[in-house]
Amino acid sequence: MAKRIGILGGGQLGRMLALAGYPLGLEFRILEDAAESPAGQVAPLVSGPLDQNLVLDRFAEGLDCVTFEFENVLVKAVEHLSGRLPVHPGPLGLAKSQDRLVEKELFRSLGILTAPFAPVNSATELEQAAESIGLPAILKTRRFGYDGKGQVRIDGASGVSLAWEKLGGHPLILEGLVPFDREMSQVSARSTNGEICHYPLVQNIHKKGILHKTIAPAPGIGPEHPLSHASQKAMEKVMQTLGYVGVLAIEWFQVGDALVANEMAPRVHNTGHWTMDGAQTSQFENHLRAILGWPLGSTEVTRPTVMLNLVGDYRTAKEWLAQPGVKLHLYGKSPRKGRKLGHVNVIGNTAEEASERAYAVMDWLVE
Ligand SMILES: Nc1ncnc2c1ncn2[C@@H]1O[C@H](COP(=O)(O)OP(=O)(O)O)[C@@H](O)[C@H]1O
Ligand SMILES: [Mg+2]
Repeated sequence: MAKRIGILGGGQLGRMLALAGYPLGLEFRILEDAAESPAGQVAPLVSGPLDQNLVLDRFAEGLDCVTFEFENVLVKAVEHLSGRLPVHPGPLGLAKSQDRLVEKELFRSLGILTAPFAPVNSATELEQAAESIGLPAILKTRRFGYDGKGQVRIDGASGVSLAWEKLGGHPLILEGLVPFDREMSQVSARSTNGEICHYPLVQNIHKKGILHKTIAPAPGIGPEHPLSHASQKAMEKVMQTLGYVGVLAIEWFQVGDALVANEMAPRVHNTGHWTMDGAQTSQFENHLRAILGWPLGSTEVTRPTVMLNLVGDYRTAKEWLAQPGVKLHLYGKSPRKGRKLGHVNVIGNTAEEASERAYAVMDWLVE
């Protein structure tokens, strides 16, 4: 019998998981509050709130395994489902990555570098933290932030009270600004039987807090580069400590020859979308293999790739498809300012070719 996977959340990550799983003979069911969703267009949908056990039970009926595609899934929902059937990643990895403070404490306890940080729960604590960490710094909500939302940069003393006015009232964290050379990320998978595979380090460029571009592999970082080893070792420590199953992403700041952890995501990741066209096995397929305890697929790079996010609006499919090396992935969403509507993977036979092809379409992206 075909394995049936349940996915909590109906966004584009769920959609791409389902699309990667059908060729493997898998079936899917989506749980999503909204009646219309990117994943709901490609798989049967149970529509209802994820915080009601009755809804969760109805959803779980007949499934073999459950996963999730956004990290703000209620830990309680995952715990409830875990009592009935395997849920991967489990509640521990989810809980740790939902709170920026807990996440940074985990990194620190494993000897992984982070920005200097301090919890902030009052205006006085913010002043003290700004004093001890120094400015510039970034004040962030501990929970529910994404795409740069829930963050305020503090450049000088006068910005402190302004930042408190904006975010005060939520549990917060103040982080020192890391003077990074560039941002990179590690996407890896660990299966139920402990097998681990790593994609190469990739370089990420953000605009207005949203991922704009991923260059895969990261220029100048070959498989034997010390940073590749350091990144994989850190990832393995985190995965093993959490008993993690599935795809996990760690976002890094590169500072000279050191890697400083920014945050992690307990799911398939936007900086792994290039694998759909540039790696032997996509991150989506490897996530499914991992949670089912199936052999992981090769992460070998087949073609250097530049991934560009389509945010806000995009050219027509016909226009994109006329471009050499462009692989189009749309999420079935209607255009709205600041919304991720899809991505293109621009592939080349060489890194130079991929980069030139991406450069040629750069002004097609909406600012
Ligand atoms: N401590 C920091 N130092 C320097 N830049 C930062 C820091 N924190 C965040 N940023 C910048 O803001 C972006 C978004 O912040 P991040 O913590 O990753 O939040 P999100 O959950 O929105 O992705 C990062 O990719 C980076 O460019
Ligand atoms: Mg981030």
